[in-house]
Amino acid sequence: MCPLKLFIFALISVSSLNYCNAIHDEEEEDDVLGLTAFKADIIDTSSHLSSWNQDDTSPCSWNFITCNPATGRVTELSLTGLNLSGKIGRGLEKVQSLQVLNLAHNSFTGSLNPHLLLLNNLESLNLSHNGLSGGIPPFLTNCRRLKFLDLSKNSLSGRVPGEFFLTCSSLRVLSLSGNNLNGPIPNSISQCTSLNHVNLSKNRFSGNPDFATGLWKLTRVRTMDLSHNGLTGRVANGVSNLPYLKELLLQGNHFSGGLPSDLGLCSHLKKLDVSGNQLTGEFPKWVGRLTGLEYLDLSGNGLTGTLPDTIGGSGSLTYISLSGNDITGSIPSSLIHSGKLSVVRLRGNMFNGSIPEGLFELGLKQIDLSRNQLTGSVPPGSSRLFETLESMDLSANGLSGDIPAEMGLFSRLRYLNLSWNSFDTRMPLKLGYFQNLTVLDLRNGAFHGPVPVDICNSASLEILQVDGNSLTGTIPEEIGKCSSLYLLSMSHNDLTGFIPRSMSLLKRLKILKLDANNLIGEIPQSLGELDNLLSVNISYNRLQGRLPDRGIFPGLQESCLEGNLGLCSPFLKGPCKMDVPKPLVLDPFAYPNQNGNHQGETSRSKGSNHHKFLSVSVIIAILAAVLISIAVLVISLLNISARKRIQFVGNAIESCSSSSRSTRSLSIGKLVWFDSKIAPAWVANPETLLHKAAEIGKGVFGNVYKASLGEEGRDLAIKNLVVSNMVQYPEDFDREVRVLAKARHPNLVSVKGYYWTPNLQLLVTDYAPNGSLQCKLHEKSTSSQPLSWARRFKILLGTAKGLAHLHHSFRPPIVHYNLKPSNILLDHDFNPKISDFGLTRIVAKLDKQVMSNRFQSALGYVAPELACQSLRVNEKCDVYGFGILVLEMVTGRRPVEYGDDNVMILEEQVKVMLEDGNVLECVDESMGEYPEDEVLPVLKLALVCTSQIPSSRPSMAEVIQILHVINTPVPHRREAY
Ligand SMILES: *[C@@H]1O[C@H](CO)[C@@H](O)[C@H](O)[C@H]1NC(C)=O
Ligand SMILES: *[C@@H]1O[C@H](CO)[C@@H](O)[C@H](O)[C@H]1NC(C)=O
Ligand SMILES: *[C@@H]1O[C@H](CO)[C@@H](O)[C@H](O)[C@H]1NC(C)=O
Repeated sequence: MCPLKLFIFALISVSSLNYCNAIHDEEEEDDVLGLTAFKADIIDTSSHLSSWNQDDTSPCSWNFITCNPATGRVTELSLTGLNLSGKIGRGLEKVQSLQVLNLAHNSFTGSLNPHLLLLNNLESLNLSHNGLSGGIPPFLTNCRRLKFLDLSKNSLSGRVPGEFFLTCSSLRVLSLSGNNLNGPIPNSISQCTSLNHVNLSKNRFSGNPDFATGLWKLTRVRTMDLSHNGLTGRVANGVSNLPYLKELLLQGNHFSGGLPSDLGLCSHLKKLDVSGNQLTGEFPKWVGRLTGLEYLDLSGNGLTGTLPDTIGGSGSLTYISLSGNDITGSIPSSLIHSGKLSVVRLRGNMFNGSIPEGLFELGLKQIDLSRNQLTGSVPPGSSRLFETLESMDLSANGLSGDIPAEMGLFSRLRYLNLSWNSFDTRMPLKLGYFQNLTVLDLRNGAFHGPVPVDICNSASLEILQVDGNSLTGTIPEEIGKCSSLYLLSMSHNDLTGFIPRSMSLLKRLKILKLDANNLIGEIPQSLGELDNLLSVNISYNRLQGRLPDRGIFPGLQESCLEGNLGLCSPFLKGPCKMDVPKPLVLDPFAYPNQNGNHQGETSRSKGSNHHKFLSVSVIIAILAAVLISIAVLVISLLNISARKRIQFVGNAIESCSSSSRSTRSLSIGKLVWFDSKIAPAWVANPETLLHKAAEIGKGVFGNVYKASLGEEGRDLAIKNLVVSNMVQYPEDFDREVRVLAKARHPNLVSVKGYYWTPNLQLLVTDYAPNGSLQCKLHEKSTSSQPLSWARRFKILLGTAKGLAHLHHSFRPPIVHYNLKPSNILLDHDFNPKISDFGLTRIVAKLDKQVMSNRFQSALGYVAPELACQSLRVNEKCDVYGFGILVLEMVTGRRPVEYGDDNVMILEEQVKVMLEDGNVLECVDESMGEYPEDEVLPVLKLALVCTSQIPSSRPSMAEVIQILHVINTPVPHRREAY
């Protein structure tokens, strides 16, 4: 700091109390001095404040400053979004006429400067979107004129002092959102009688607010946002004291019981969001009386009962989400009167009856009725719906009957899921007219007949799943037009014929599943050119001959190939046939690098003549098919207005003639980092990371890839969640992953961020350089040293601590369910870090059935009560898994080993040997010397943990205590760590 500034600084500090009797000029000088001192603490890389010259006599000509022309004093200072950093230091308290101070959207750090409280003319203080930390001082006491206070999006922490609100009677707008504030919401907030807008969301406020003496006293409130905190208990009655209440947002807390019944008297209520709490009881009938309600989200609670007949009846509702409750009965037809309705989400309830026909006459954008008990057929839909619908999920119901031909008119549709129903009809025709369809899921829908040839006229399709139907005929050559496809699964059908060579045009394809069909012949060699393929399953067909000699094919394991007629692979036993007849080429695509190396020259030229001749007939056939299908559609659409019909035919012809459509840009993902210090360069396109070379492991939930952070050389692990296409709502995913990210502990792999698109979900975590315990224990390479007892003990203790943290620091506890050595990662120091914890939270919410399949892969670790599918499971399942893990670590054996004609269960063996007194014989020899007085009690502890009766297993906290007792540190042993 230059001497002059130092001088000014000293001057301010000395004279800060003299302003009252200063004369006019001195006051202006005060402003100059104050602002100059304030500037001295700011880092202004882009020189926005260069006009602030300390030699000026008045600051009124400076940028970002407004003066009162009469007095020449500064009344407003607005420095928003200027990329300023540094501290909000001293100086501003000199600018005594300041009414508006806005420093939002910068990078100021440090704590809130208590000197700001000397500004008693201040009316608006906005420090949002900075990096301020520390506690909230009770400084409002002095700012009696303050009307707007915005401290949102900082890192303020601690409790809000009760005195904070004691003199806030002028305050209209208060936002403390997006900080780390905790403790209760002070009841003194009731003193802020003028408050119109309260936002306390996204903090860690806890406890049950005393609504009656606090928040419900704010009679002028319009919007109240307490969402995403840790608030508990009931939401008390008394809300009807707030006659102007328009928005009440309580989502993402732990509120329980029912909603206050007098909420039905808040006639101005437009938006009510109570999603993601633990509300119970009957669906509140008064919701039907809220005539002005536009947005209603009660999803993710435990509400029961039926919907009132009047819901939506007043016509103002635009958004309704009740997903994830236990609501029964039919979908009330009153919803149909909600002419403005745009989003309907009723997923995962017990709604029955049929879909009200009128619902499909509204201009809906999104409709999700999945996972209910709906029956009957899909209503045809109206011309309004054709123009609006973007996403439709009717999966997992009991729907039947034909798919209405009109569905082809949903030109904006991006997501269509009809899976797990009982349609018993052909696949929906006229898929060709969808222009933006990205996901088509028709799994297990009882569809039969052929795969329509126009399935890929919309080149936008990225995911196509038709598994588990009774589809017949061949896979159409036209599949090659699906140029955006990256997941194609058609397993468990009755498909016949050859695998079309046009599949080699699917350059983005990552996953291909054709298993359990009747496909014949040889796999086209050209499929070896698909460099992005990560997974292929062609088992249980009638395939034979050579596999493509490139790409993923030479390495395909038995399970992906077995059950065919004779494929040639080192991983398969049995003879194979090398010269398999080639299919007759009937496809309209060109194959520049045709692989015909064992076809003679003559037969090839003959083949191409043939090809040309056939092409003409193919073209004629295609033209005829197009004309016929247009005619069929026109006839079937006679009940649609003439205008619409003409427009549709126009569109249809247009979409037939424009064969080459420009490649659509990928759906935009959202990479969310919980740790702002890391923001690596590759975030723009995380999908590029998912290549074979970077793969470091395969887990139950998906493959894991390693990615480096360029500059700092830090490595991260990226898990590609294979359950992806089931996680449909980014909000749900976000909520669950954030819970996981909160689980910070030295023995837990920390979650750094995630990436979400409807089709791809990645979880970014720490990378563990020493790999998994599985490798160290069971897949020992000759170069790596076996684990010593000291290391093993350290790993056990650390794992126990990590689990205990999950069980005891969360309400409800996080249960791992899937503990096994491949989920224990080791850092450079052999500290264990548990991975994959809580992923069951994401999955279990979605699919219990998938979960039970996933458990099977952890055979041997699964607690008996889980294996029997009795769903009263809790943390004790993990204790069981931990016990098995201990046995494994001590014996170096796997929990279940298959001998020639017997199966050895580790736990039973150890028990028997312990009873016989020779248990030390089963201790892993490779760990060298070990203290018997530790190993023996550890084995016994393991057997207690694996008790068949859950209640006789200890808690993880007890396990840690016992381990500490077993290993009381003895000096010579400590060195070994
Ligand atoms: C913001 O400031 C940082 C340094 O503090 C600088 O690297 C960055 O380029 C600046 N950004 C803009 C948009 O001026
Ligand atoms: C604070 O400033 C930001 C940026 O100018 C603005 O978006 C926000 O609405 C302001 N807060 C209040 C309470 O006016
Ligand atoms: C398809 O998506 C694009 C990009 O989002 C959009 O501009 C276009 O209107 C959509 N087409 C239809 C028919 O909805």
